[in-house]
Amino acid sequence: MNAIIEKINQALADAERRAGEAADAAAVEQLRIDYLGRNGLFPALSREMGQVPPEERRETGCAFNAGRGKIQELIENAAARLKAAGSGSGDAIDLTLPGRRWKAGHKHPITMLADECVAVFRRMGFIVAEGPEIEDIYHNFDALNTPADHPSRDPQDTFYFADGRILRTQTSPVQIRVMESHQPPVRIVAPGRVFRRDTPDATHGMNFHQIEGLYVDRGVSMADLKSVLQTFATEMYGPKVKIRLRPHFFPFTEPSVEYDFSCIMCGGKGCPVCKHSGWIEIAGAGMVDPAVFANVGYDPEKWTGFAFGMGIERLAMLRYRIPDLRLLYENDVRFLEQF
Ligand code: DAH
Repeated sequence: MNAIIEKINQALADAERRAGEAADAAAVEQLRIDYLGRNGLFPALSREMGQVPPEERRETGCAFNAGRGKIQELIENAAARLKAAGSGSGDAIDLTLPGRRWKAGHKHPITMLADECVAVFRRMGFIVAEGPEIEDIYHNFDALNTPADHPSRDPQDTFYFADGRILRTQTSPVQIRVMESHQPPVRIVAPGRVFRRDTPDATHGMNFHQIEGLYVDRGVSMADLKSVLQTFATEMYGPKVKIRLRPHFFPFTEPSVEYDFSCIMCGGKGCPVCKHSGWIEIAGAGMVDPAVFANVGYDPEKWTGFAFGMGIERLAMLRYRIPDLRLLYENDVRFLEQF
């Protein structure tokens, strides 16, 4: 064995030890520089190769090539080991970087508002009732005392299925379903989706939400209705909001009213939102018509009640000052994450 082969064997032993001990990328790089770099051991040995006697050349050349390959391998393995351990230079974890924030979702503004309405009514002793979105004509119209020729039944306004059922146009049929299955006293609110064949614009949609209320007991009066609505207005929009009732007509209530809140934007002074009237129309209400009681088998001589129904989108638009209802349904995250 000549001196060159000895040096190669020695170098292999050293390099193997150093590769095993290398704790960072710099140590691995130093290994490469020492053995394979321009001024490293192997290029130097290569220059010495000329002095090797011809009969030893073959053996020395083999040892040289094998040794250089082995060192290359040691370096690559050491680098791979460091990378896998996560401390390779390129992918090192930088503990000073700020953490990534998880974006948690939240309830849709319509759901938030519906929940809030429900919470207010629960505090007044109402419980939540639900009914189907696919309704029959009896519950949506007939039982609610709606005349056979009432325009709201028109297929221009209502979505009909081939079997004659419909998408409910209001939450009022829940009143009927509750009274059919429960004896008075009844005190419920029913939030839910309703559907109408409207052309969508800033204040109308084909699919929107209402919250219905029904209170049946002995001796319930219009004054009770008014106080419940006033309490609701105060709880939702603050102590300054007033309400007013205006005479109106609904088939299922008699007398019927529409009720307004004093404008939440301008405090009643008049602004574009309330069209300078100082009032914003919120919904319909009234005293349950005796014909409706008769349809569900309640004795109208014994029981009286009030009902109301309002649009949740409208309440949300006022609460969050949303100018266009369609924003609520585009589900643009930049809009939704503001709530
Ligand atoms: N259902 C009516 C509508 O969609 C709203 C309504 C008016 C509900 C008067 C009621 C009521 O319960 O008493 O326009």
